[in-house]
Amino acid sequence: MNHAVSSHQGNLYIEQMPLDAIANQFGTPCYVYSKAAISANFLAYQNALADKAHLICYAVKANSNIAVLQTLAELGAGFDIVSVGELERVLRAGGDPSKVVFSGVAKTASDLQRALELGIHCFNVESEAELELLNQTAANCGLIAAVSLRVNPDVDAQTHPYISTGLKENKFGIDINLAPQVYQRAAQMSHINVVGVDCHIGSQLVDIAPFVAALERLLLLVDQLSELGIALEHIDIGGGLGVRYNNEQPPTAENYMAAVLPLLQGRSETLVLEPGRSIVANAGVLLTEVQYLKGNGEKNFAIVDAAMNDMIRPALYQAWMDIQPVVSSDVPAAVYDVVGPVCETGDFLAKERSLAISAGDRLCLFSAGAYGFVMSSNYNSRTRAPELMVDGDQVHLIRRRETIDDLLSGEQLLPTAG
Ligand code: LLP
Repeated sequence: MNHAVSSHQGNLYIEQMPLDAIANQFGTPCYVYSKAAISANFLAYQNALADKAHLICYAVKANSNIAVLQTLAELGAGFDIVSVGELERVLRAGGDPSKVVFSGVAKTASDLQRALELGIHCFNVESEAELELLNQTAANCGLIAAVSLRVNPDVDAQTHPYISTGLKENKFGIDINLAPQVYQRAAQMSHINVVGVDCHIGSQLVDIAPFVAALERLLLLVDQLSELGIALEHIDIGGGLGVRYNNEQPPTAENYMAAVLPLLQGRSETLVLEPGRSIVANAGVLLTEVQYLKGNGEKNFAIVDAAMNDMIRPALYQAWMDIQPVVSSDVPAAVYDVVGPVCETGDFLAKERSLAISAGDRLCLFSAGAYGFVMSSNYNSRTRAPELMVDGDQVHLIRRRETIDDLLSGEQLLPTAG
């Protein structure tokens, strides 16, 4: 697994930069990413698909910092977006709109219009109502919208229920059994060009079988459509490949593609992927500093300066993320709950971990590059952490720490009486 962090003589490094030096220079909490790891994770997909027409659309939601997007755009990545905000980020980062796919259940007319005007690769349409709005909007703009229908293959991704998306009970996509009739309607619409089919069954999948089951169902649909005279140009199998947080053994991008490619043997459709987590999760960490240690006889708490507003995955999904001191020490280890300053019992980064730490030590929360900063908030009026990108022995500030002025900008007092 491509882990960006290494340990030399008790010090943790990202590429050639000691994490302690980064914390000294930029303060804590802070997010740190490795450019080399992001690139390697992307290239693993690209190399595995060298012999197949493909488009790898990085899922921007996983980590949308424009320097991350720039790194991927320079390698030729396309992008999977779910909002106009993400689309503007892609443009700002130098991404190519003709390699953008637009997912999401609730696109508005103005979202559709902006994306149409930029000439994106395709809209992943999630309902008949959206299809109608898209046709209307395209007609108003005098443009043709390239469309892929996101179908729901009713496959159990066997992941956390909050990040499982391919079951009938989930809000995403169009029931695969109803898809042929929606495709037939789409094919008759004046400003719609049907180009593909799309699915995304969930995130953090550590087993290949559900991906294969979903693709088999998609291929049956593609063949059925072809009999109806609707020929598709691409098949988009979404994102979802898991990463190692603890002791999971997820397939590599290469393993995954080795299972997918035989199913596409002899087919001319381009393969589209939307990986997010597997590109960035293990390329990033969150650094935090121990403020206080306290114990109540039953439990020990390490109170750190990062909180659920900085990294919500443990609180929201009971996600297990590894946490280790940035510099090892020889103080006796004890079992701690690592908790933040936010006034909620759910505010923890890790529970019951054996750590040899003292107040003032820095801790590294691993695999924090995906769904970390992007899900952060200002809860408790906390300013959001900076983001840094390490490239060899250089560290670049790619988002500065928020200030109190940032926090209050946009707010206004009521007019005073009289
Ligand atoms: N495509 C679509 C349509 C998606 O909804 C997602 C993720 C992806 C691609 C990328 O999936 P990935 O390769 O990253 O698994 N916040 C949660 C994960 C939510 C995933 C949402 N959709 C977490 O922290 O675990």
